[in-house]
Amino acid sequence: MAKGKIILTGDRPTGRLHIGHYVGSLRRRVELQNSGEYDKIFIMIADAQALTDNADNPEKVRQNIIEVALDYLSAGLDPEKSNLFIQSQISELTELTFFYNNLVTVQRLQRNPTVKQEIQLRGFNDDEAADNKAGIPVGFFCYPISQAADITAFKATTVPVGDDQLPMIEQTREIVRRFNATYAPVLVEPSALLPEGDACMRLPGTDGKAKMSKSLGNCIYLSDTSEAVREKIRGMYTDPGHLQVSDPGKVEGNTVFTYLDAFCKPEHFEKFASCFVGKKVSFSFASLDEMKAQYRAGGLGDVMCKNFLYEVLEDTLAPIRERRHKFEQDIPYVYEVLRKGSEAAREVAAQTLAEVKRAMKINYFDPGVLDELIAEQSEKYR
Ligand code: TRP
Repeated sequence: MAKGKIILTGDRPTGRLHIGHYVGSLRRRVELQNSGEYDKIFIMIADAQALTDNADNPEKVRQNIIEVALDYLSAGLDPEKSNLFIQSQISELTELTFFYNNLVTVQRLQRNPTVKQEIQLRGFNDDEAADNKAGIPVGFFCYPISQAADITAFKATTVPVGDDQLPMIEQTREIVRRFNATYAPVLVEPSALLPEGDACMRLPGTDGKAKMSKSLGNCIYLSDTSEAVREKIRGMYTDPGHLQVSDPGKVEGNTVFTYLDAFCKPEHFEKFASCFVGKKVSFSFASLDEMKAQYRAGGLGDVMCKNFLYEVLEDTLAPIRERRHKFEQDIPYVYEVLRKGSEAAREVAAQTLAEVKRAMKINYFDPGVLDELIAEQSEKYR
């Protein structure tokens, strides 16, 4: 250990976590946590960031903090190894943000592709008068700067995120370079750690749309019941041209296969071989490639594929669901984890903030500094 590698990452608590979060980041975090490669791991529930576009709905954010915490714990994040905390409880983060604000231009923020895209998505319009839509909240516009504070407060070297967050990491790196060059080399330049495999980069919704999103109603949640998972898979988008079982089918853009790419392991073919035993036809596959080849050739029906996907997904989801039920029965424990985690996180952030203030020479009343300051100014006026 002691390789100086530190992780920070997090999620906005605006809803329960879904399997897109799981393959995009959560699964990886658990692996990283258990790898023993990292000195410290900070996992943050970004409630303050969630409020940047939910100012009028703090109750939604408050309710979802516990949902996200339950999802974290049931997915395998272990408070003994990972420091789970709530962003708004670390007031040092807002102070850092305030200083970093001076190192970023409005133009640079306007160029941030994620901000651009999210402004579109939320229907924020910068021409308020034109169509009476709400303008862009300043806090929302500036959240990349606050995210830089999240990352740098913990001197994170590694930020495991989905590719939509790359512009945030890039912006953070710029702030770090600018700060270190202007004041003193205090901050650490982080790197993003992206998920492996195309399917995990961005899992499509069950309707085949580009992204899982609560508002589109196309998510499979980690906390869904097995019945709900079965129903959602039953209605899933496949290949619209695959009308007859005997027709050749397309695997590309077929959501069932995209999900299999993200979740299927070689051993699943033996474990769930019975899924491919039908009344009329039966198959025996040794790998996903073999299954895909058969689908492309024709003869392999969507129902079989979906039944198999259900088993594959449940292989991951059932243990998570079981653990969640246990944690749901122990809510005091969950809040205790968050409280303790926030306390510990705050100590680390306070240490960085002290170094930042020292580098900026705004630590007037630190021990020793005041004496020097008095001496210097007295000399000036002598
Ligand atoms: N922006 C991230 C999201 O929308 C959440 C987040 C906030 C975050 N601060 C962070 C992620 C710092 C990584 C590092 O999911």
